[in-house]
Amino acid sequence: MKKLQVTTSYTRYESLDELDNKVRELMLTAIEARKKAYAPYSKFNVGAAILLDNKQIVTGNNQENAAFPSGLCAERVAIYSAGAKYPENSIQIIAISAKSFKHTVTQPIAPCGACRQSIAEYENKQKNSIKIYFMGETGSIIKVNSLKDLLPFGFDSSYL
Ligand code: THU
Repeated sequence: MKKLQVTTSYTRYESLDELDNKVRELMLTAIEARKKAYAPYSKFNVGAAILLDNKQIVTGNNQENAAFPSGLCAERVAIYSAGAKYPENSIQIIAISAKSFKHTVTQPIAPCGACRQSIAEYENKQKNSIKIYFMGETGSIIKVNSLKDLLPFGFDSSYL
């Protein structure tokens, strides 16, 4: 028997001002996308902006449904849209911002498990890691250099 450890690393930025211009612009685009979210049930709006290697930006926001499980998270709306529009291009960065209309979200909001799995698929497909920046409405921003930092022991096609 052997006890092993998985470690993850991330960077925390105290505010948008600490981000470089390219990433700050991408986060501001995610915030704009967030404002168009359709989240009448949770009142929790999420926006995502994806930067591709061809410099195109693809956005998404959460889309809810009266039949709750039929809704979709912002990250998956964005990544499936990028996959649909630019199937040959690779994703370099995803920026995510969340805001609640019930309370102020001051902590960074990480993508949910299903979104992590969806992002992992694209990271494996393109064989290049995807940088992910996520924040709430205010406060700090967390950056990971790869989806793998958020999802160790992920399931992928090599198991099939
Ligand atoms: N949501 C996202 O858009 N992304 C996540 O990673 C977590 C949750 C959305 C789904 C739902 O519309 C609302 O936030 C509350 O869960």
